[in-house]
Amino acid sequence: MNTAPIIIAIDGPSASGKSTNARLIARKLGYTYVDTGAMYRTLAWHCLQRGVPVREESAVAQVCREWRAELVCVEGHVRLLVDGYFPEAEIRTAEVSAAVPHVAAVPEVRHWMKLHQRDCARFGHLVMEGRDIGSNIFPETPYKFYLDANPAERQRRREADGVQENLAARDQKDSQRAVAPLKIAEGARIIDNSGESPEQTSARIIAEIQRALVGR
Ligand code: CDP
Repeated sequence: MNTAPIIIAIDGPSASGKSTNARLIARKLGYTYVDTGAMYRTLAWHCLQRGVPVREESAVAQVCREWRAELVCVEGHVRLLVDGYFPEAEIRTAEVSAAVPHVAAVPEVRHWMKLHQRDCARFGHLVMEGRDIGSNIFPETPYKFYLDANPAERQRRREADGVQENLAARDQKDSQRAVAPLKIAEGARIIDNSGESPEQTSARIIAEIQRALVGR
């Protein structure tokens, strides 16, 4: 019997439904949920807190070398703590959203994140969402999904959450960076969920996973 952790990789641009669907899928399958965007947001927030200029690559890299951050799992969700603190609400501000693509483009940051995200497998089977999970963090997993929805719908979803943000600008920066850009991983199943409810989308993905898991 294969006892290695099963990794479900869910990638896609902003407001493509990754978080909602990944949570639903993790709950339904009883797997641990990992929001890697929250990890990058936490580092961006930490830099802002300390007055570190997020556009200065070497300054951000130094913070990443020195910060006291640890991963814990609480009720099936992985959390990144900084100095023992979980900045759950603080990382969702517009200021952090604007800072995070700069932090996320720093090669040392991506290296740190890759080590720690791969280490999440110690928590068991995972549903991990982000931008480079299928292409870079767990390229070996056979369970890869790329979620998308048309730009107008994604912008609407974000505004419905009460957030005013230029998503296209952030997506463009995420897609154009040199290290581990947002892209469709080789072998990923593309799921366009425009006009669908999260229940419909997650049910489609779960059905695919269950088919693929037969005979594992
Ligand atoms: O919620 P939303 O989809 O807008 O963003 P998020 O998943 O919270 O990710 C915030 C930012 O973190 C992204 O715009 C990327 O700059 C960065 N990120 C990344 O580079 N790689 C990941 N695996 C996840 C997030």
